[in-house]
Amino acid sequence: MEPCDLLIHSATQLVTCAGPPGLRRGPAMRELGVIRDGAVAIRGSTIVAVGPSTDVRRRFRASHEIDARGRAVCPGLVDCHTHIVYAGDRVEEFEQRCAGATYQEIMAAGGGILRTMRLTRAATTTELVQATLPRLRQMLSFGTTTAEVKTGYALERDAELRQLAAIALLDAAQPIELVPTFLAAHAVPPEFTGRADAYIDLVVESMLPLARDWYAVSSFAARAIPLFVDVFCERGAFDVAQSRRVLDAARNLGLPRKAHVDEFVEMGGLAMALELGATSVDHLDVTSPSAFTALAASSTVAVLLPLVSLNLGLSHFAAARAMIDAGVAVALSTDANPGSAPSLSLPLTMAIACRYLRMLPAETLIATTVNAAYAIGCGGRVGALMPGMQADLLILAADDYRWLMYELGGMPVAQVIKRGQVVVTNE
Ligand code: NIG
Ligand code: FE
Repeated sequence: MEPCDLLIHSATQLVTCAGPPGLRRGPAMRELGVIRDGAVAIRGSTIVAVGPSTDVRRRFRASHEIDARGRAVCPGLVDCHTHIVYAGDRVEEFEQRCAGATYQEIMAAGGGILRTMRLTRAATTTELVQATLPRLRQMLSFGTTTAEVKTGYALERDAELRQLAAIALLDAAQPIELVPTFLAAHAVPPEFTGRADAYIDLVVESMLPLARDWYAVSSFAARAIPLFVDVFCERGAFDVAQSRRVLDAARNLGLPRKAHVDEFVEMGGLAMALELGATSVDHLDVTSPSAFTALAASSTVAVLLPLVSLNLGLSHFAAARAMIDAGVAVALSTDANPGSAPSLSLPLTMAIACRYLRMLPAETLIATTVNAAYAIGCGGRVGALMPGMQADLLILAADDYRWLMYELGGMPVAQVIKRGQVVVTNE
């Protein structure tokens, strides 16, 4: 018998999400590799065996065992697009929207992202960390074990770097593994009103090189966790030419790229981001179906964020069904932020994707595990239960993984295991 540290056995469904390396597309987004009466053996922070309980228990002797009878077990979830480092809230604007104001009207009037910017600029790094920790705690209890986190609520050099510093401190302070993204080009700051090009000059010439230098000596670089560069390509934010300058500069600095495109207006940002080899393109709510072929032929992940349409009370959702059927690699994320998506729950995101994006439960799980991991440069290491991968997994409160999507606003997770350690017990 071989020794191991933790053996989870007798899972009614062991949902491995195992498969060949790389992004899942088309029918492969529905293949979950479910093992009935399954077991996982873990040594340290790594999975060493996955299989039927009888086989794994014959091979391993564990210092700690969990009997998962009556439970489904699946990979820890990956939230690949969040804006959770900010100060304050947008409760006032929420009520304005309830009374009929649109997100864009509030943004044009100097609210929205700029309101959060004013509060975030005034916060110290410690205050940002303190404000964000409870958000991460809630995400973890909902099953998120890895998350991307963007800057973009400071929009000035030193304060954007403070947001990066806060992300590094948060990464070290709690169990969710974080992947940083530099989003200095999230909105045009008030000092640059009417001079967006001049702000882009500052981003490209000063802020991006400083972010790269910060990253080079950070704990992220030491562990080969990438620093992404993102841009909000949208009417009222940055046009395609300005967005191109940001992503081009990122490429020249050797940093991987993402872009917010086609959230409200289709401006051509998608084609530009594909041309510049973006790792992901995010939102795609109003993308024309004619763009799906090029997207499917690329290695870029389409990150869909259905809580935004839900929260803004819109009747239009991203065309996930047509994208998946066209071979696009789809991921799902919360877009957690104080304005357009005040929610930290990936199970709620999956539930909405099943109802309004016409995705199947299995597709939403692949979209929040395997494909989401690839969208943030962690594919092959997290997102599936396979020997050699990190031991990040969930023991669900039900015996069928579809409870993750079936129940609306419930608590489908019983226990969360991160790097081989039980970090949450919800019941
Ligand atoms: O992804 N689209 C741009 N940024 C966020 C919204 C941020 C905010 O409203 O504070 C988003 O939806
Ligand atoms: Fe976003």
